[in-house]
Amino acid sequence: MKSALTKASAFCARFGLKLPILLAPMAGASAPSLSIAVANAGGLGACGALLMQPAAILSWAAEVRAGTNGAFQLNLWVPDPKPFRDPEHEARVRDFLAGWGPLVPPEAGDATPPDFAAQCEAFLQVAPPIVSSVMGLYPSDLVARLKAQHIAWFANVSTVAEARAAEEAGADVVVAQGMEAGGHRGCFHAAKAEAEMVGLFALIPAVVDAVRIPVVATGGIADARGVAAALTLGASAAQIGTGFLRCPEAQIAPAWADAIGRTLPEETTVSRVFSGRAGRSIATAYVRAATAPEAPRPAPYPVQRGLTTAMRDVGTKAGDIERIQAWAGQSAALAKVEHVGDVVRSLWEDARGLLA
Ligand SMILES: Cc1cc2nc3c(=O)[nH]c(=O)nc-3n(C[C@H](O)[C@H](O)[C@H](O)COP(=O)(O)O)c2cc1C
Repeated sequence: MKSALTKASAFCARFGLKLPILLAPMAGASAPSLSIAVANAGGLGACGALLMQPAAILSWAAEVRAGTNGAFQLNLWVPDPKPFRDPEHEARVRDFLAGWGPLVPPEAGDATPPDFAAQCEAFLQVAPPIVSSVMGLYPSDLVARLKAQHIAWFANVSTVAEARAAEEAGADVVVAQGMEAGGHRGCFHAAKAEAEMVGLFALIPAVVDAVRIPVVATGGIADARGVAAALTLGASAAQIGTGFLRCPEAQIAPAWADAIGRTLPEETTVSRVFSGRAGRSIATAYVRAATAPEAPRPAPYPVQRGLTTAMRDVGTKAGDIERIQAWAGQSAALAKVEHVGDVVRSLWEDARGLLA
């Protein structure tokens, strides 16, 4: 068995990093400033591009390239089949949401994310060193085009079966996402997201044993102990999301950042109440009410996302944490209010001390 530090060094050398710390791609929380600072500290920057039009993807990459020579990845969700629409049920959800924000018109449920094929073309135009997928595998024609451009493909997986499928489809790296993770669960099959909740301590060694490609660990890692543990279990690098969201470079709503700092592991929960896809957030008053037995079950993705937009926007403007889409992983309270470059550097220095 290679030592944890040797494995991490090989990963860094292959992907042009100085240290094995990756910023997690986070749609809606991918400020260029965050990637610039992480990459300048020697880690990997990241953009969760799900909600970005092609022009916004190009300008994000240009801004990051103007601020750093370091590496970054661009990330997309693999689209689900079109959702089944049930206007009567949606009306019950809209009635429920009217108790939490403005009245929701029926057409709010029609909102759809930008065109996936056009976003992929933007990725190929930017030609970053790495792209990553979540919620499924990239189609084989895209994989072939990525390989032709020497762009590495990192596939987010949340089970051993998904890891094997990703390797088979040509992924260069799998990102093993434990159920502790903040934000959406990246399960390939939306319906299985709550049933297949695997914790990172069980997931990393099982995935490392199942595939030959390097494994990145993500979910609930937010300090040097977590980084060292992930590498000890066989991961080549650690990817961090929530743990960086209180850094000033993240630029998220102050009420959300403050709440992350006081959220215990048991105060986050996985639900579908924001978007229709399962994701881990702070268990706010809205989340508790919308998951109560008497509440209407959420509409499917992305209908529910459209229906909750008005409430989320009002919540964010008012700084009202109870109505903000407050994604957070189980290690939220470990997140530091410090410059992200300092956090990245000291995470790795301390983790190396633990591993030496
Ligand atoms: C605000 C937020 C948005 C996220 N958006 C995405 C996304 O667009 N694509 C993706 O692959 N993962 C997304 N994730 C999941 C992260 O990439 C990663 O798996 C997670 O943050 C790891 O857990 P941690 O938050 O405990 O570090 C998101 C996570 C958060 C907190």
